[in-house]
Amino acid sequence: MNLEKLLADRLAPAFAAVTATAGDAGPDGPVDPTVRRSQHADFQSDAALSLARRLHRAPRDIAAEVLRRAELADLCAVAEVSGPGFVNLTVADDVLGSLLSTMAADDRLGVVAATDPQTVVVDYSGPNVAKEMHVGHLRSTVLGDAAVRLSGWLGHTVVRANHLGDWGTPFGMLIEHLLDLGESTAADELSVGDLDSFYRAARVKFDADDAFRERARRRVVALQGGDELTLRLWRLLVAESERYFLSVYGRLDVTLTAADFQGESRYNDQLAPVVEELDRAGLLRDSGDAACVFPAGFTGRDGQPLPVIVRKRDGGYGYGATDLAAVRHRIADLGAARLLYVVGAPQRQHFEMVFAVAREAGWLKPPVTAEHVGFGSVLGADGRMLRSRAGGTVKLVDLLDEAVRRAAELARAKNPDLDEAAVAEVARAVGIGAVKYADLSTDRIKDYVFDWQRMLSLDGNTAPYLQYAHARIRSIFRRAGTGVPADAPIVIGDPAERALAIELLGFEAVVTTVGRTLEFHQLAGYLHTVATTFSGFYERCPVLRADGPVRDSRLALCDLTARVLRQGLYLLGITTPDRM
Ligand code: ARG
Repeated sequence: MNLEKLLADRLAPAFAAVTATAGDAGPDGPVDPTVRRSQHADFQSDAALSLARRLHRAPRDIAAEVLRRAELADLCAVAEVSGPGFVNLTVADDVLGSLLSTMAADDRLGVVAATDPQTVVVDYSGPNVAKEMHVGHLRSTVLGDAAVRLSGWLGHTVVRANHLGDWGTPFGMLIEHLLDLGESTAADELSVGDLDSFYRAARVKFDADDAFRERARRRVVALQGGDELTLRLWRLLVAESERYFLSVYGRLDVTLTAADFQGESRYNDQLAPVVEELDRAGLLRDSGDAACVFPAGFTGRDGQPLPVIVRKRDGGYGYGATDLAAVRHRIADLGAARLLYVVGAPQRQHFEMVFAVAREAGWLKPPVTAEHVGFGSVLGADGRMLRSRAGGTVKLVDLLDEAVRRAAELARAKNPDLDEAAVAEVARAVGIGAVKYADLSTDRIKDYVFDWQRMLSLDGNTAPYLQYAHARIRSIFRRAGTGVPADAPIVIGDPAERALAIELLGFEAVVTTVGRTLEFHQLAGYLHTVATTFSGFYERCPVLRADGPVRDSRLALCDLTARVLRQGLYLLGITTPDRM
C-alpha cells in the first residue's frame, strides 16, 4: 500500500545485482534505494549517486543499469535517469486508482495492525495533588494522549500511567490546612478547582507560623507511619484533586480515566525492595547525607559524578526512587516492551539517569526500550513563559474556557444558520481542537508561542482549517444526497486527481513513522498537505457536476480524503464535526 516501499522493493534487487556484478561484496551491506517524493516526477531514488564512489562508476551509468534490471513496467508509466544520476519514477494512473480502491475498501485505510503487539506504557499528564493544572501539563497531556491513541490504533496494548504527584512532605502542611478549614469547606474549595489558592494558603501558614510548621512536620511522620486518620485525610485530598483532574480531561477530550491514576504513592511498598536490590547489585553509595546511585557517564559541570538520590538521610525516599520503582514495575509486572515518558525537557537528565540506573540494575535491557518524549515550553507573545494577565501561571481551564468562547464567535460568524446547540458543539470541537493542534503541529522539542489568532485561523496549518476541510467534504455528500457509490472504481485522470491520490497513499507511511518517532507534527503537516491538495483538486475537478463514472470516482476520492482527515485528526485527539 505504501508507494515508497512498493517502489523501493522493486529497485532493491536491481541495486543488489549491480553491486554483485561489480564484485562488490558490499562492506556497507545492501543498498537502500531511498525512494523519496520528487519535484520532477512522483518519486526519485538518489542511491546511484552514493553508490558511484563505492563502485568507481558514473552515477548515470549505474542508474541506467538499475532501470534496465528493475521490474517496474507494471507500476510505472515513466522510469528514467535524470540529472546527475537520479532514478525518476512516475506511477501509472491505473496503479494509483487501484491502490486507492484497495485503501478505500479497508476500514483501516491500508494501515496494518502490528502482528507482534507490544505493551506500551505511556507516562503522561502527571499533575500534582492540590496543585492547579497549568499550561505545562497541557503539553504532556495532549502529546501523551496522541501517543496512546496512535500506539493503540497501530495494534499495541497501551497502559496509561498518570504518575500523579500524590506523596511527599508537602502533604503534612496540606493536611493540617485541611483540618484548619474543616473537611467539608476544604472539599468544596478543591472540587471547584481552587487548587492553587488552597495550596498557597497552606504554604503561607507554613512559612509564617512556627506552630503550624511543627504540626505539618508531625503530620508527615504520621502519614509515613500509616496513621489511619492521617491516611483518611490524605485520601480525601487525593480524591478531590483526582475528581477535578478528571473534569479537565473530559473537557480536553483525552482518554485518561480514573483507572489510569498511578500516583507516586502506588510505589511506596516497592521502595525498600528496590533499594535493597540496588544494594545487592553493588550500585548503592553513601554520599554522606543520602544513599545514591551514580550511573556511569553522568557528570556535573565540575566533572564530579552525578547521583540519583535514592534514600535521604531521614529515611525518606524521593522522586528518583519512585521512578526507579515505576520502571521496574512497568517492565517486570506489566510486561512493557516500550516505556514512554511524556515529560518536559527540563526533566530529560532525570530520566536519562533513571534509565541508566535501571540498565545497570538489569531491569531495563533489550528489546525493552525507554524513551523520554520531551517537549519545549509554551511561550507568550513576548517570547517568555506564558503568563496570565495578573502575571501568574496560566490555569489550564481558563485557557480552555477562552478557546471555546472564541471558537463560538468564529462559528457564529462563519455560519449564521447554526442554532445555539450546534454552535456550542462546534465551538467545543474547534476551540479544544485548536489548542491541541497548536501543540501537536509544532516540533515538540521546541518551544512554541501561544497565539489565539493563529491557532483559530481558518487558513494555515490549524485545526479549524482541517476540520473545515472535513466538514466541507461531508457537505458535498449532503448535497449529493448519496453516500459513496458501492464499488465505484477510482479512476485517475486530471493532474489534480493524481496529486491528491499520491498524498492519500502516503497515509500509511506517515502513521507508521510517527508511531515510532512520536513526532506528531509530521502527521499534522501531512494532514494539512492532504487538505490543501484536496482543495486544489476540488477547484479544478467538478464533482457533483461530473457525469457517471467520473462523478462516482470523484465522490470516492472525496470520501477517502474525509476519512483520512478524520482518522488522522482522531489519532491526534481532535474531533471532526460533520457540519461547521
Ligand atoms: N508530577 C511530575 C511533575 O509535575 C510529573 C511526573 C512525570 N512522570 C514521572 N514518572 N516522573 O513534574
